[in-house]
Amino acid sequence: MSSPAEPLHPALPGSTDPQRIAGLLPAGFTVGTATAAFQIEGAVDEDGRGRSTWDEFAERPGRILDGSTARVATDHYHRMDEDVALLAALGADAYRFSISWPRIQPEGSGPVNPAGLAFYDRLLDALLAAGIRPMATLFHWDTPSPLERRGGWLRRDTAERFAEFAAIAGRAYGDRVADWVTINEAATVVLDGYALGLHAPGRSRLFRAIPAAGQLLRAHGLAVQALRAVPVRGRIGITNVHSPVSAASDSAADRAMAGVLDFVHNRLFADPVLRGRRPEVPADAPPMLRLALRVLSRMSPRDLETIAQPLDFYGVNYYFPSRVAAGADVSGASSPDGETAAMRSVPFHLAPWPGHPVTGFGWPAVPEQLGVMLDQLQARYGRALPPVVITEGGASFPDPVGPDGRVDDAERVAYLAAHLAVAAEAASRMEVQGYYVWSLLDNWEWAAGFTQRFGLVHVDFDTLVRTPKRSFDWLREVQRRRSR
Ligand code: NOJ
Repeated sequence: MSSPAEPLHPALPGSTDPQRIAGLLPAGFTVGTATAAFQIEGAVDEDGRGRSTWDEFAERPGRILDGSTARVATDHYHRMDEDVALLAALGADAYRFSISWPRIQPEGSGPVNPAGLAFYDRLLDALLAAGIRPMATLFHWDTPSPLERRGGWLRRDTAERFAEFAAIAGRAYGDRVADWVTINEAATVVLDGYALGLHAPGRSRLFRAIPAAGQLLRAHGLAVQALRAVPVRGRIGITNVHSPVSAASDSAADRAMAGVLDFVHNRLFADPVLRGRRPEVPADAPPMLRLALRVLSRMSPRDLETIAQPLDFYGVNYYFPSRVAAGADVSGASSPDGETAAMRSVPFHLAPWPGHPVTGFGWPAVPEQLGVMLDQLQARYGRALPPVVITEGGASFPDPVGPDGRVDDAERVAYLAAHLAVAAEAASRMEVQGYYVWSLLDNWEWAAGFTQRFGLVHVDFDTLVRTPKRSFDWLREVQRRRSR
């Protein structure tokens, strides 16, 4: 794999001409950007915010690659107006952000914090004044600490508490939010947070993490019901991460591990939500997985009914396809900036995708696999699949500031142009309604701390100065040239 400091080689195919990409995007196709509260807001102790599992996790030695915390992050909490002005300058149609549960309900249940509510009131008003459609995510991983202490997502009550929070947010913002996302990437919470210990809450339960999936699924269904009961004016969906999965070799170990990851990413959350059924376990699934899934067989028909609420859209996050190899990555290629102890013990790694460039995370950039993933969804769920919105996609690169003060992120332009082209093409054969670039700003990338930059806008993490990158100017040109 090439080092992330070198230019991407080989380059992604296809011209990045803004006029060409603008011409491909169908009228009404939403181009937006996405962020998450904990990754950008900072101000963790201000205005009555409570603690989340991520505050605690980041403070544990050795858990975050560069030893950083998100106490300041990008300081968005104090720079919200500037960031909305950036979105307006970009010509973004929409903005996806998350509402911090511990800011609204510091204890995760009970009393509501008016100062927390006021922050998102101001954000929503600023977005609407700028003509930008707000998409609000209710859970982007910042579980209130008091709930985690009582068992977190392994406990049934957490799902009920989440529905209570959804109702509070729905009543406060239901008149202005255009699109609601209940839960972001539940698969990552289960896998990285409860199975592998890479993310908060840092549990390493392996297959015994599966019960958390059951409660996240219930939380989603209960939240949809709560929002509909308010009722909110906007559309309601969920965001799941999907990735076409293949085994890196024919070995039994690689195939078994690929089967597990395919199950976690492509079925565990999609099957119950879209079909109202327990997830389909592949015939050759390893015995450990079958055993773990007995837990889900305790899901009652009533739970499944709760989970399978009709949705207005289905959000998918797509970054890369997964060629899965069993065993830890000994080459170090997938974590060029080093690894935490937890990262070294992950029982699988992603093999390179021959002939394709990699991003700063070591992830292969394979735009056509976005199309493959969308086709897989369509083939598997058919009429049960609501209109699809790509709620995240993007790439991290080192993005140094040049001597002229500019950031020339040609690789990100290539990545976005190629993925937008694939999304536009898919929109001609199925309902794909938009693409949200991850992310507006360079931000705090969870366990990787500040080592991965995903932004259209560069953030100097010492001065917090924002500098739009070349990709920002490029996307603004695309938006300007579209006929809408
Ligand atoms: C998906 C997550 O939703 C987001 O928080 C994260 O930063 C990106 N992937 C990039 O890893």
